[in-house]
Amino acid sequence: AALLATTSHPRPQQPGQTLTLNGWVHTVRKQKRVAFAAIGDGSSMRTVQLVLSPEQADGLSTGTAVAATGRWTPSPGHEQSHELHVDSLRVLGQNDAAKYHTPEFLRTLPHLRSRLPFQSLLLRLRSQVTAQTTNYFAQHDFTQTHPPIITSSDCEGAGDVFVVSTQPSAPAVHTPTQSPDCEDMFFQTPKYLTVSSQLHLEALAQSVGRVWALSPTFRAEKSDTPRHLSEFYMLEAELAFVTDLSDVMDVVEGLLRAIATGVKESPVGQELLQARAREHKEDGEAISETRLMRRWQGLMDGPWPRISYAEAMRHLKDAVDHGKAQFIFTPDDQEGFQTEHERFLAETVGRGGPIFVTDYPRRVKPFYMAPSAERSPGTGGVPTVACFDLLVPEICELVGGSMREHRLPELLKSMENQGLRHAPDVESETSDGSLQWYLDLRRYGSVPHGGFGLGFDRLLCYLSGAANIRDVVSFPRWHKRGLA
Ligand code: 4AD
Ligand code: MG
Repeated sequence: AALLATTSHPRPQQPGQTLTLNGWVHTVRKQKRVAFAAIGDGSSMRTVQLVLSPEQADGLSTGTAVAATGRWTPSPGHEQSHELHVDSLRVLGQNDAAKYHTPEFLRTLPHLRSRLPFQSLLLRLRSQVTAQTTNYFAQHDFTQTHPPIITSSDCEGAGDVFVVSTQPSAPAVHTPTQSPDCEDMFFQTPKYLTVSSQLHLEALAQSVGRVWALSPTFRAEKSDTPRHLSEFYMLEAELAFVTDLSDVMDVVEGLLRAIATGVKESPVGQELLQARAREHKEDGEAISETRLMRRWQGLMDGPWPRISYAEAMRHLKDAVDHGKAQFIFTPDDQEGFQTEHERFLAETVGRGGPIFVTDYPRRVKPFYMAPSAERSPGTGGVPTVACFDLLVPEICELVGGSMREHRLPELLKSMENQGLRHAPDVESETSDGSLQWYLDLRRYGSVPHGGFGLGFDRLLCYLSGAANIRDVVSFPRWHKRGLA
């Protein structure tokens, strides 16, 4: 049998040549003396037309897997240049479905959903973006690493951790401060599914200088939004010996530019544009190919605006004062942004493209962040940290990064302020003992460093124009659904 890819990229075949194509039936049309079936193999959204006898088409329905052998023949129809006149048809996998399933119904069945042509396109997009990411980092002297999934720490300190337990009856979720009874547990101390690989990447960056990882990440937050999942992939990088936050932002910008360029130039990108154009024609609400192209172009054009939190606040307050914006939550110097604020900033200051916001108030950010550089103005005496969020339209926060506190006394102080450690002296244990190793990194050859985490599924959403993050993940887990 011909390779699967033959279906989507028919090699220049001699008309009349015999070949075998494998695929799944998309549609069947039966007439009195002849039948037509469109088959595809998922390697592109294209299908090949089979010309069959009505008897051969008996028992075929959407989803049946077949191997068709026949003659490659110029087609009289204008949908395709060639078609396969089938001599023999072998059914590889019967299709149990008594009737045609609509895409809407298939979408509710994760194990079958990936059969939808657009879903297979999203799978190929994910694969392509992963390859581009690997390329970019390899070209910039980063080492790919595999950090652990089971950890003892809650990196972000938000308490949104899933607990790993060998006891079926143990609670699924709890905060790190409430230690469960560990007597019967496989692990001696509480263990969680990682919320971020950052702390481990900081350790590894001290070994090879620049590291990256694309890793499963878990958050037990009950956010029911088009941007949140309980399980998602985070792309994280950590760079030793950088002293300036802008060096970290440069990597984010370079990476996303390389990815967007790769997508634009790839067959997957071209198929995406065609699919969006078709959809937009049928449903004016759906994202158009022009809008999608503008998104990619926005990622490719640089440099992107970089403004401080204080400046961003001024923009928001100005907009409210001049009646240019109405927010549910009043912008507040101390409180950080709400999604509606982020959206506004990306649309206006970011001119519908990406925008970096830097130097947030310390109180809304995790313990590990280093203070802002001298030159960065604070927000009216509020202490700020050397961090950034990358905001894009619709998705809002796509990347978060910072300089890390690499000095031991300052790190201890920051942990103490956030309630992560009780005793003020250097040698004592942290409250749960679990961050001791992290403190050690500051004891043995600590150097200035920084890094970032990018929501990989959010990026795929942005690149594909998917309306919901659950659409770009094959088996989405969120707090209301996690099966199959
Ligand atoms: O901003 P976050 O929480 O940052 C960290 O965890 C850092 N420790 C990363 C680092 O510096 N190495 O998460 C990083 C990104 C967010 O900007 C967002 O894009 C994505 O991860 N993200 C989610 N994506 C899907 N579902 C969720 N529930 C997400 N939570 C965060
Ligand atoms: Mg964040």
